[in-house]
Amino acid sequence: MTAPPDRRAFLGVLGGLSLIGAGGPDRPSTRSRPAELQSDFLFDDGLVYLQTGSLGPTPRPVIDRVMEVWRELERNPVSYGYGSLETAQDDVRQTAAAFLGCGKDEIVLTSSTTEGMNWVAQGLHLKPGDRVLTTDQEHPGGRSCWDYLVRTAGVILDEVRIPPDLHDAAEIVDRFSRAIKPDTRVLSFSHLLTSTGLRMPVAELSALARARGAVSVVDAAQAAGGIQVNVKALGADVYVTSGHKWLLAPKGTGILYLREGLGARVDPIALQAGRVSYSGSSGVRNIPGLIGLGASLDYLTGKGPAATEAHNLSLRSRLYAALADVPRLTVVSAPAGPLASPLLTYTLPADVPSDRLYRQLYERHRVVVKVVPGQWLNGNRISTHLFNSEADVDALVAALRRELA
Ligand SMILES: Cc1ncc(COP(=O)(O)O)c(C=O)c1O
Repeated sequence: MTAPPDRRAFLGVLGGLSLIGAGGPDRPSTRSRPAELQSDFLFDDGLVYLQTGSLGPTPRPVIDRVMEVWRELERNPVSYGYGSLETAQDDVRQTAAAFLGCGKDEIVLTSSTTEGMNWVAQGLHLKPGDRVLTTDQEHPGGRSCWDYLVRTAGVILDEVRIPPDLHDAAEIVDRFSRAIKPDTRVLSFSHLLTSTGLRMPVAELSALARARGAVSVVDAAQAAGGIQVNVKALGADVYVTSGHKWLLAPKGTGILYLREGLGARVDPIALQAGRVSYSGSSGVRNIPGLIGLGASLDYLTGKGPAATEAHNLSLRSRLYAALADVPRLTVVSAPAGPLASPLLTYTLPADVPSDRLYRQLYERHRVVVKVVPGQWLNGNRISTHLFNSEADVDALVAALRRELA
């Protein structure tokens, strides 16, 4: 993909100077992000990255730590890999536990949300006729494990519909409550919907699951890192997330939380030899990547999860307000309040395909957004994270105005 000539040339002139607040046609805002964050990220010059929900950028201190560990590992792979670095890798479980508000024994390191979900689905040992209740908005990474059990184990999958304009937590809980059947063993739902960013009422749904004797499984791929998370306050039985999105960790890392009280109810093959990060049943892991995950958690802890969430939501509110005046698009995400998150989605009319607009935004303006899969809607999703600035939001809005005029 090539840079748009006008913008690239404009930014090229500025060279290594701070681009934020530089003004120019695509950058009306003068507010800059903190200087230390500028140098922490390795984005191409002039890139406005609003796609953390698919893959987050890893900051320089984390990359440095990964490379340091990798070099050390290769000096004597067996001695370090099964020695000091294996210990350091397992210590990441403690860091993850502190970050999510639980105990180390409740944490398993994985390679992704999808892997965590697969382990959970397999480890529940559901029987023919057992039911799983999910939503119609789940990402394949949180859904295909249940589809597999439908195909291979006689499990029945029920779906709660959550239309994009449903912005009512009580109504969502009510829909779940009405859809639970005597054989429902699992409630499986996202913390933040991948389609619209809707913040699901996890605490209420987890309480509902518990009251009906079901296990609550939360796909938190879009949540941890972008918003503050305390798994005990949420009350979920299982909480699954990726390192490589909002946690800004190396690609191919993830965290799985299994509530202590679950006991052996989730008992997958991979954990037969225990939850330590390396075991006979898990096999060798991505040692530098997982230690890098620990470094990312330290990085985010240093920034402050509450401050990060506040920053992300304030950018999202700025975007929400600005998009009200942009022609031809409609914001479908919830307004500011308990259901809002750092993800925001707008829909487009049928004559503006979202993948075409996505290409125009990137190729002409160097703004990266997501194309929401067409089974949900014709639109784009925007992610705002700690490295983004008001100028980034304003650049997107200016680009949209031009493309949709
Ligand atoms: C809600 C949700 N679940 C799961 C995934 C898959 O994540 P991973 O590729 O880390 O397994 C995504 C990715 O976008 C997602 O949005």
